[in-house]
Amino acid sequence: MRIDVVTVFPDYLAALDLSLIGKARQAGLLDLRVHDLREWTTDRHRTVDDTPFGGGAGMVMRPDVWGQALDDVLGADGRLVIPTPSGEVFTQRHAEALAAESHLVIACGRYEGIDARVAEHYRAAGREVSELSIGDYVLNGGEVAALVLVEAVGRLLPGVVGNPDSLVEESHGAAGLLEYPVYTKPPVWDGLEIPDVLASGHHARIDRWRRDRALERTAQRRPDMIAALDAAALDKHDRAL
Ligand code: ADE
Repeated sequence: MRIDVVTVFPDYLAALDLSLIGKARQAGLLDLRVHDLREWTTDRHRTVDDTPFGGGAGMVMRPDVWGQALDDVLGADGRLVIPTPSGEVFTQRHAEALAAESHLVIACGRYEGIDARVAEHYRAAGREVSELSIGDYVLNGGEVAALVLVEAVGRLLPGVVGNPDSLVEESHGAAGLLEYPVYTKPPVWDGLEIPDVLASGHHARIDRWRRDRALERTAQRRPDMIAALDAAALDKHDRAL
């Protein structure tokens, strides 16, 4: 997969050299390119923003500069992704859909955002444009959101996560539940013991214990996820909990 990120702060994306995503890039599983938006400016001051029509605080990013940049970067098959607090809330389902694309272009806005005609223009040209929020809070720009998107999508690409089973069991996976609590050595730490069942070697009981804890945790922390569960996916034990 290819991902292009266009930003006025390319250094923000340096973290994508590290860890699993960095390795995926080195292995050629992910072709990630970061571009400085100012390379598409034509004036002496390399201006990317201006005051908002209609008044109000802050600055808005100019559509002409973005249009030049995106025309160059999108190519034939690029899907445009614009991180914005006004977008749909990004979930694992969005990550899965984006991971199935061959080419993403992430346009990071700053200030009050990107002139709305940019998304409109590329939609009118027949492109899919995803405006996505990483949560109900406001960041200073789209760069941190781009890091989130690249990591969430990149780890779903074949070969990026060593053991694909770890993608199946984790929170927000197919079960629609948060993950159960996990433990490692030592078996007693600070007077706290691991749950006996996990050392029992009894796999059916371990599975049951984990599902119960996942249900319990999800009910406490994310009642909205319990409400969204398909009743047919619940077994007798689940319902008794
Ligand atoms: N830019 C600023 N805040 C954001 C958010 N919450 N999600 C995505 N992009 C943003």
